[in-house]
Amino acid sequence: MNYKANENRYEKIQYRRCGRSGIKLPIISLGLWHNFGDVDDFENGRKILLTAFDNGITHFDLANNYGPPYGSAEENFGKVLKSDLKPYRDELIISSKAGYDMWPGPYGDFGSRKYLIASCDQSLKRMSLEYVDIFYHHRPDYETPLEESMTALDQIVRSGKALYAGISNYPADRTAEAVRIMRELGTPLLIHQPKYSMFERWIEWDLINTLDSEGIGAIVFSPLAQGLLTNKYLYGIPEDSRAGKEWGFLKQDEVNSQINKVKQLNEIALHRGQSLAQMAIAWVLRHPVVTSALIGASKVEQVLELIKVQDKLDFSEEELKKIDNILVNS
Ligand SMILES: NC(=O)c1ccc[n+]([C@@H]2O[C@H](COP(=O)([O-])OP(=O)(O)OC[C@H]3O[C@@H](n4cnc5c(N)ncnc54)[C@H](OP(=O)(O)O)[C@@H]3O)[C@@H](O)[C@H]2O)c1
Repeated sequence: MNYKANENRYEKIQYRRCGRSGIKLPIISLGLWHNFGDVDDFENGRKILLTAFDNGITHFDLANNYGPPYGSAEENFGKVLKSDLKPYRDELIISSKAGYDMWPGPYGDFGSRKYLIASCDQSLKRMSLEYVDIFYHHRPDYETPLEESMTALDQIVRSGKALYAGISNYPADRTAEAVRIMRELGTPLLIHQPKYSMFERWIEWDLINTLDSEGIGAIVFSPLAQGLLTNKYLYGIPEDSRAGKEWGFLKQDEVNSQINKVKQLNEIALHRGQSLAQMAIAWVLRHPVVTSALIGASKVEQVLELIKVQDKLDFSEEELKKIDNILVNS
């Protein structure tokens, strides 16, 4: 049966402006790093994507090497576009990236012009798209001149293969430099994609201030610390969880070392009348510079739970202090 999107989808979630740009993003965006590769159940992934869109999630985030195997998340996303989402192309913000290991040899990794442009072309082919909305340099590369990587992003945008450029995992000083170069080139950076959660707070040192003063939005990845900041590991490691899967990036040692904090955080969430996962998302969204929390999901129900975060986004000073105490002291 032909997919028809929920008519009320834009009433389901809030949107925030991405820095000083014309783009608004949903406060929750969906990433395809895990659960959309050829090792995963395609129909389950399709349902997650369509549920997300039915609930106003307009932004889907990919990268060249998402899978496994590399490239398969883009191919599978391309299939869902073809079968279901193509009529809604102008309602979607689709992103991809290059910067990590993708193909053998010296031109399939890091930040050369050769790699970034070839990889963007490959991503477009895999998704059968004419353009992506955002193309990112996935990580800083200190051996390639920054001007070279940024000129490649500028060219990708100018040639119509992407509408906006972004950077990911860049520290504050390199971000400021990238912002300056892109402004001079006439293709201002739209967005920065850093890792941020209660367990990973590096952006609070200086990146948040840099992005705020430069008018660049942040879309923060792994806000649930890959599922650790949910109630799923409270009583052990389920087989079908990311930490339980052979190819998952979340390691069982990490779960075990943080579980004491997770239990205490769970108590605070319960007092707030929301799940730990919802509280973890609300917590990253408390900074106005954070445009969107970039989540992953292995089940439709997870998306539906997280969407409800907007029922309670605010924190009292006391709650924030209690959370800080758990994170710093226990
Ligand atoms: N730029 C970069 O370098 C970079 C790096 C990593 C990720 N990213 C992007 O960020 C996206 C999100 O990363 P992530 O998947 O690590 O994010 P995350 O939201 O921290 O973790 C997602 C995982 O948490 C679990 N989960 C989600 N909702 C849940 C709920 N309501 N209850 C219980 N468990 C729940 C699921 O794991 P289970 O499988 O255990 O159910 C899900 O796969 C990626 O897809 C990618 O687009 C970017």
